[in-house]
Amino acid sequence: MDKLIINGGNRLNGKIDISGAKNAALAIIPGAILAQDVCRIENIPNISDVAIMIKILQELGASVRSVNKNTVEIDSRNVQFYTVPYDMTKHLRASYYFIGALLGRFGKAKVAMPGGCNFGGVRPIDQHVKGFEALGAVVTIEENAIVNAQSEGLIGNSIYLDTVSVGATINIMLAAARAKGLTVIENAAKEPHIVDLANFLNSMGADIRGAGTDVIKIRGTENLHGCTYSIIPDQIEAGTYMVAAAAAGGEVLINNVIPKHMESITAKLVECGIEVEEFDDSILIKSDRRPTRCNIKTMPHPGFPTDMQPQMAVLLAIAEGTSIINESIWDSRFRYVEQLSRMGATIKVDGKIAVIEGVPQLKGAPVKADDLRAGAAMIIAGLVANGTTEVENVIYIDRGYEDIVGKLRNVGADIKRVRVVETAAQVS
Ligand code: EPU
Repeated sequence: MDKLIINGGNRLNGKIDISGAKNAALAIIPGAILAQDVCRIENIPNISDVAIMIKILQELGASVRSVNKNTVEIDSRNVQFYTVPYDMTKHLRASYYFIGALLGRFGKAKVAMPGGCNFGGVRPIDQHVKGFEALGAVVTIEENAIVNAQSEGLIGNSIYLDTVSVGATINIMLAAARAKGLTVIENAAKEPHIVDLANFLNSMGADIRGAGTDVIKIRGTENLHGCTYSIIPDQIEAGTYMVAAAAAGGEVLINNVIPKHMESITAKLVECGIEVEEFDDSILIKSDRRPTRCNIKTMPHPGFPTDMQPQMAVLLAIAEGTSIINESIWDSRFRYVEQLSRMGATIKVDGKIAVIEGVPQLKGAPVKADDLRAGAAMIIAGLVANGTTEVENVIYIDRGYEDIVGKLRNVGADIKRVRVVETAAQVS
């Protein structure tokens, strides 16, 4: 029950090193099950979602050795179980990647339906199921929402995704990597972490081509071997600090990034009047005046990422003029607006559209993180606001940001984490 206390108003100056990509790590860790050998994975972000995925691997029988805080060695030779119960999956959505990975390894998997950030409405998995079935698995949803996928051995097939889905693309790649013959995923997602997973599996001996385009071809390979692999930098973590620097003002070098992955975010910041300079593996943000308005529509990669939408809303909340955000991926990703409004933001939401009338200044207030990226947005709001902001539900932020407090303090933010002692009244 920790909370963050932020005294706003400090400009940010200095350098921030970006960690490995959460959403790549969450696909690569279960992918290690496909090798009956040791995989050394470097640049793993030290975040709670990763810790849970590693715990699940261990429960399945893998030995995992921490080489240091960002490197692990996963030995999957002794993995013998193919069942993942709800108390392991309930914490995060990506636990469903064990369905694809276990299907790939054993031809069967029994995995409880996952938890994860709640963006309102359901988060369907029909495209994952369609993919597994096309590969020859019989998939049933049992009591207590357990996905039971059984096959006599997967056989490659063509799968057209009805909607561009990061999760379905990853799950099908994991299942198909060791299937017999050729699998073709059409209308595949193109996010950087899809390419990273393909590169990881290929370094284990898989034959995957086309990742990063909308047609991915996977020629199944029976035996995959161990490898050493380093995860790409986190696009969304980098984007979050880029927006933080743009909103708070100052000069911040965002280090260890792939500038190409940042293009949609860079383009919007430039449109808002922020100075953005790109180098080989870093991006410099310079901001010394009030940003100007812009419109945003979230889209699958290479469009503007939905996972940057709440953070960008904070920048637009203090921008000159009126901005419109169109959230086209998730049905309900504006729950954070209620919190931002407590800080003086003027935002009207109608379904998947938010209209933001920029105000010159936000004011500090007690707020909570409704989910991971909403939490990041609250921190940025706290950095730019007048006075003190307290952010509750830090547990969400821990899921995806390695040492966010340390990284922001290093560039001059006045932010600290405090433990909240629950009173008897609060507990009851
Ligand atoms: N969808 C379906 N059927 C499916 C799967 C998805 O209709 O079988 C729909 C969803 O309802 C949604 C759209 O397709 O409207 C896109 O969903 P997608 O499957 O791409 O999302 P995801 O794989 O569940 C990942 C990230 C999310 C990120 C989305 C979109 C991970 C672990 N999660 O989720 O990241 O918002 O892609 O880019 O990779 C985050 O990191 O904060 C986060 C929530």
